[in-house]
Amino acid sequence: PSGRVSLTVNGERHAATVDNRTSLLDLLREQLGLTGTKKGCDAGACGACTVLVDGRRVNACLTLAVRLEGAEVTTVEGLAPDEDDDLHPLQEAFIEQDAFQCGYCTPGQIMSGIGCIREGRTGSPEEIREWMSGNICRCGCYTKIAKAVEQAAG
Ligand code: FES
Repeated sequence: PSGRVSLTVNGERHAATVDNRTSLLDLLREQLGLTGTKKGCDAGACGACTVLVDGRRVNACLTLAVRLEGAEVTTVEGLAPDEDDDLHPLQEAFIEQDAFQCGYCTPGQIMSGIGCIREGRTGSPEEIREWMSGNICRCGCYTKIAKAVEQAAG
């Protein structure tokens, strides 16, 4: 069975026909061509697919697209949509702190970091690490990621 869903992604309205089991991750990547959001485990265990839904961070692989009628989704592409836009302060901080190696987890780390900052969970590197513990980095850049989030939190 399939259904229609209309939602806003990075400020743009979209209407899509989706199978009832289609994840937000597959809708973003396969139907909307927004491949900045990464698929790691596809099972809620790695955080590579983290996006914001109505301002809250979620694993897009665990979120059913059909449930998102009227939702506002922000992906990494929405942070600095045009070439001339300044990067988001957390994107700048990731560059300054050198907070990645292979970069595969980075979009999810950044979206999760934005959520972490909004939730006010940035009191110490330990607190940041704990509140971002759903985001795995196989290169082990956790210390630098926490520094970047701390920097952007100001
Ligand atoms: Fe969604 Fe790993 S791809 S948590």
